Amino acid sequence: MLVPRIVTLLVAALAANAAPASESASSADSQITLDTELTLGVKQTPNIENDTAVDANQVAKGYDLVNVSSTARGLTGILKLKEATNLYGYDFDYLNLSVSYQSDERLNVHIEPVDLTDVYVLPEDLVPKPSVEGDVNSFDFDNSDLVFQYSAEDFSFEIIRQSTKESLFSTKGNPLVFSNQFIQFNTSLPKDHYITGLGESIHGFRQEPGVVKTLFANDVGDPIDGNIYGVHPFYSDQRYDTKTTHGVYWRTSAPQEVLIEEESLTWRALNGVIDLYFFSGDTPKKVISQYVNEIGLPAFQSYWTFGYHQCRWGYDSVDELQSVIDNFKKFNIPLETIWSDIDYMDSYKDFTNDPHRYPKEDFKKFIESLHENNQHYVPIVDAAIYAPNPNNQTDNDYPPFHDGIDSDVFLKNPDGSLYVGSVWPGYTVFPDFLANDTQDYWQKCFEDWYKDVPFDGIWLDMNEVSSFCVGSCGSGKLEENPVHPPFAVGDVPTKYPEGFEKTNASEYSSVQASISATASSSASSSSASSTSIDSKNTLAPGKGNINYPPYAINHFQGDHDLATHAVSPNATHQDGTLEYDIHNLYGYTQEVATHKVLLEINPNKRPFILSRSTFPGSGKYTTHWGGDNNSQFRDAYFSIPQILSLQMFGIGMIGPDTCGFNGQSSMELCSRWMQLSSFFPFFRNHNVLSANPQEPYVWSSVTDHSKQTINIRYLLLPYFYTNHYDTHTTGTPLMRALSWEFPNDRSLAGADRQFFVGDAILVTPVLTQGADTVKGVFPGAGKDEVYYDWYTYEKQDFEDGKNTTLDAPLGHIPLHIRGGYVIPTQEPGYTTAESRENPWGLIVALGVDKSAQGKLYVDDGESYEIEESLYVNFVAANNTLLSSSFGSYDASQPLANVTILGVDSKPKNVKFDGNSVDFSYENSTLFVTNLEQQTSDGAFAKQWKLTWN
Ligand SMILES: *[C@@H]1O[C@H](CO)[C@@H](O)[C@H](O)[C@H]1NC(C)=O
Ligand SMILES: *[C@@H]1O[C@H](CO)[C@@H](O)[C@H](O)[C@H]1NC(C)=O
Ligand SMILES: *[C@@H]1O[C@H](CO)[C@@H](O)[C@H](O)[C@H]1NC(C)=O
Ligand SMILES: *[C@@H]1O[C@H](CO)[C@@H](O)[C@H](O)[C@H]1NC(C)=O
Ligand SMILES: *[C@@H]1O[C@H](CO)[C@@H](O)[C@H](O)[C@H]1NC(C)=O
Repeated sequence: MLVPRIVTLLVAALAANAAPASESASSADSQITLDTELTLGVKQTPNIENDTAVDANQVAKGYDLVNVSSTARGLTGILKLKEATNLYGYDFDYLNLSVSYQSDERLNVHIEPVDLTDVYVLPEDLVPKPSVEGDVNSFDFDNSDLVFQYSAEDFSFEIIRQSTKESLFSTKGNPLVFSNQFIQFNTSLPKDHYITGLGESIHGFRQEPGVVKTLFANDVGDPIDGNIYGVHPFYSDQRYDTKTTHGVYWRTSAPQEVLIEEESLTWRALNGVIDLYFFSGDTPKKVISQYVNEIGLPAFQSYWTFGYHQCRWGYDSVDELQSVIDNFKKFNIPLETIWSDIDYMDSYKDFTNDPHRYPKEDFKKFIESLHENNQHYVPIVDAAIYAPNPNNQTDNDYPPFHDGIDSDVFLKNPDGSLYVGSVWPGYTVFPDFLANDTQDYWQKCFEDWYKDVPFDGIWLDMNEVSSFCVGSCGSGKLEENPVHPPFAVGDVPTKYPEGFEKTNASEYSSVQASISATASSSASSSSASSTSIDSKNTLAPGKGNINYPPYAINHFQGDHDLATHAVSPNATHQDGTLEYDIHNLYGYTQEVATHKVLLEINPNKRPFILSRSTFPGSGKYTTHWGGDNNSQFRDAYFSIPQILSLQMFGIGMIGPDTCGFNGQSSMELCSRWMQLSSFFPFFRNHNVLSANPQEPYVWSSVTDHSKQTINIRYLLLPYFYTNHYDTHTTGTPLMRALSWEFPNDRSLAGADRQFFVGDAILVTPVLTQGADTVKGVFPGAGKDEVYYDWYTYEKQDFEDGKNTTLDAPLGHIPLHIRGGYVIPTQEPGYTTAESRENPWGLIVALGVDKSAQGKLYVDDGESYEIEESLYVNFVAANNTLLSSSFGSYDASQPLANVTILGVDSKPKNVKFDGNSVDFSYENSTLFVTNLEQQTSDGAFAKQWKLTWN
């Protein structure tokens, strides 16, 4: 979390339980607050906001290609600068070009300066590099659908798709710019292009013309189109004219900017080398799979992580956590996992517990009792480590700092002194995950703490890496610690939920009047001015001017300074790497380290990590949430494209703060959102400090509505888990865009208000306030596809290529089953562990041709090394459903029932392995029940056949 305006006074919160009010007031007064001046960077004018800024495409002269020679896998050559223009950095005179056909589906174009002295080259051991497949010394070029072509004079290159003769990527007509602080190339795009990807940002799924993406990890509360927590330099380009899709990945950790225009895409980076990978597809799902296989397949998550998660900032004590759990139980709302934000810590210090509100013994007992009930606990850990006050013995007794100093694991200033920023607890230092001993240090921190807090997973926050002040603001000032964060406190600016002013107009206006009267007297620091010194953005040789690069990207922080609200670009890692070069990788390096630690602690449990800042490959280690969104319908909508994008980037499990983080949620919003998130890969409700509570039991209708869809989710757990296993093994996302499932239907380009779960379930949520209907499209309906209503099993008369208005009163989320699929289910229990003990079921939705197929994957749900698993295939055709399984995992629960949708007439006989069984028939649905007897050894212990005639 972090939205400065809504922070509540730390001392006041602590004092509520710990000390009499008068004492808390005086200690609050004596605490030093970080000077607001220290939070202000040097004002930058983003180039894209400067109308007179020089356009490199107009001015630069580019390179000529010389010395071309072909290699077994492609070609190499030298690029020779035609004439230096040194626009936003010093141009390199000579570059090495190397083109490599890495596989039949993947082509690499690599361009780097001949002299790499001051150039950052992303190490392969840090971020995996796609490599040549098969024999490096030979390649049959005819097997590649991608073809590299170039012109030597005024160098440009083009990637052609052989099968369609289409140009997929072409730099023709625009010069390559390659300087120490500015790299730019440009590709033409067809008109009406359909680009997706390039994150992380809050935007519709399609990146339409006019979009400018800034790729620079940033701690900011989900602004539309601003750069946020993660960086993913990858896009997918879907071509409806040729019915093909390809992908493009620039493997770089640089601060970047991508401009998407009517017929072009311009890509800029402030350091590094060009290392471009083209993936041939040729379907959207193949592109994703090809890309994700290279950056790292998503981690396989434990079964329990698909359960419902409850969190908020402001669960003040162990007792309060317990009362939340009790309330869930009382209202019989399934609760799998309870989370802690920074509330549990002693003065916001990592690896501590507040001695009064979260005393160690009670806390541990609490977690153990959760475990007895098959529930789980996940606490937050911030990236920054408190740097204690050396003059105060009590404060100074903080091993995570001293151990880190002793093993030399924290980021430094350029002069070798400790880099000291400021985060929640006060002045802080930052683990350097490139330093030799950080892994051991990090492990010890967790192991010591785990003895008291036996957590089930770790939530990594603030790892952009965030720091509230600019530069090493705490150097020489540790005796002031704990300094208080520099934000206005105890104030929730939004007192009322979205739409309140319309529905409660008179009450709203009188309250607003009194709020503005008080606000005008307290408005203060945020307007403090920062100096404007654009002249600082000067060219510099070597690494360049890393504090104020000559080309200013549109970093979303107010003054656009790269050092604002983050550790500065000049912070230095132990091996000399500058934060400037790998700022975008901080979260990733922390995720890799934390994953290792969790495996050390529990060697055979799949590590569960939820992390905020991600990079290509992060999905191999962590899950992700959408960050600090708002309690608004708009944000419920944006959670769909955000999840779709992040899944393209290889993050297998992701979901938003359901009901919204910042601001006040409402009964209506929370009801809609709880139902929507029930179908997302990750499902957690989370809320900011001081906002009204928004657990589903707060409103009786939200209780009912949430239970209804949580139960559907739990019924579908085998289906979710099977699809997740697929994601883990192939990269294919669990949650799907309509344009992925139906890649040839142009009318679905950009459709992001509906989505599929796996192949078979289409979700059409209400995403606006006050609605009781929603429009949805049903691709192929009435032609090759048939859809059934989830709730009635009735076959729907939808029409392809048309929006259909669906009834969707509050409490009802339209769900449809796509014919042609078999969906495995298991009766829902209160926890996922209970659900796993319940009988199985199958929903067989017959397609237009009266056939269906599906699969099921089962294992123990948590082992890291999986020794026993079970794979089941289902095939339905000609009034027969066949189940065949292989594998050694014993899923001992019986099969209870099979529900077959789209059976045209009532069968006379229904037989299971030749034995007549109970059934009923209604509205073209055949209900086969009481199969337990037939399958008492376990539903899938042997092959079986169900027939209906
Ligand atoms: C805009 O760009 C021009 C041309 O490079 C430069 O002279 C001017 O200082 C820039 N304006 C600002 C506000 O940075
Ligand atoms: C010393 O530090 C402890 C722990 O942070 C704090 O409770 C105490 O108030 C501090 N003492 C003084 C004199 O500041
Ligand atoms: C880190 O390890 C490398 C490789 O073993 C070694 O060369 C280097 O001196 C070490 N650095 C420090 C600060 O210990
Ligand atoms: C490091 O970066 C910070 C933030 O931009 C700046 O204030 C400071 O002067 C820089 N220090 C050096 C030595 O460049
Ligand atoms: C359905 O409605 C959406 C939202 O208004 C629109 O974007 C889309 O083009 C429509 N689709 C069809 C097939 O009419």
